[in-house]
Amino acid sequence: MNEKTMDKLIREFPGNITEAIKIAGEARLREPQSEIRNVVVCGMGGSGIGGKIVSQWVYNDLEVPFTLVNDYVLPAFVNENTLLIASSYSGNTEETLSAVEDGLSKGAHIVAVCSGGKLQAMAEEKSFDVIVVPGGNPPRASLAFSLVQLVSILEKLELVTIRYSAQLEKSVELLLANESKIKEEAIEIADFLFEKMPIIYSTSLFEGVAIRTRQQLNENAKTLCWHHVIPEMNHNELVGWSGGDKRFASLFLINSDIYERNAFRLSVSKKVMEEKGAGTMVVYSKGESRVEEAIYFIHLVDWVSFYLSEKNKVDPIAIPVIDYLKGELE
Ligand code: F6R
Repeated sequence: MNEKTMDKLIREFPGNITEAIKIAGEARLREPQSEIRNVVVCGMGGSGIGGKIVSQWVYNDLEVPFTLVNDYVLPAFVNENTLLIASSYSGNTEETLSAVEDGLSKGAHIVAVCSGGKLQAMAEEKSFDVIVVPGGNPPRASLAFSLVQLVSILEKLELVTIRYSAQLEKSVELLLANESKIKEEAIEIADFLFEKMPIIYSTSLFEGVAIRTRQQLNENAKTLCWHHVIPEMNHNELVGWSGGDKRFASLFLINSDIYERNAFRLSVSKKVMEEKGAGTMVVYSKGESRVEEAIYFIHLVDWVSFYLSEKNKVDPIAIPVIDYLKGELE
């Protein structure tokens, strides 16, 4: 692992997108032997979340089902008509390696994304495609690489019609144009969340972003956090606010084209929480596409997690608990 600090890694996010697009442009993929009738992405933590985010970008475009697997075993439907994308930054995550073994035994068409490790070795031995991204950083700081490779695999295999890579390129401009504003907003949000239990709400198609926020607050700021989505939270979780609880801070991460009825649900939900004494804050995204809006939020919440780590006086890089757990499992 290198000696980069988390703030430096976060600052590299826009540049990583550009570098990842270059790597994607150079990657050559094998032609699938059978028609692709479903897509499965497997991966864990900082590598798995890219699959969730991309599944939401292609929601209105990809015409075959898209399934995420954050576990050891693939679903029963996987066969030679499945495109299995395995994402593991280290290439050594046991759940992902196990899912790939399962995919091999079921004849899936496999493409791996990793920085090396056992996954790269397995790809070379079993002759499936592997896209190797630069290593040496914490997996969660390398999200740009998995996002870009995932969309580019779908583009190259002609499973999508929209050019998501072009939207990602535009996102870089958006981030660079707003860098200081994003940091100011992140400081305000970190102040709001400080000494509270963060609860993140988004709309359904931004759930990946809400999960990423939770993960970054867990791993960088070392705090518990949970998330839910509108409108589903109106049908259960909102009732949980009945008693009110001043320990919680509700952060709504809202896309600018929120569906009208959901915007109404948001304002009523916020009122319910405030009446019960909870703090609420609504943050709207920027950008002209779902991709740009998600990238804007991802960068914003990366900074929030960094500023919150400073306020919590914790090291945002070290994750001794995960290291301990992985050691125990060896
Ligand atoms: C660590 C991190 C973790 C890892 C996860 C899977 O920075 O974000 O959530 O991503 O333990 O490991 P990889 O990504 O190497 O497959």
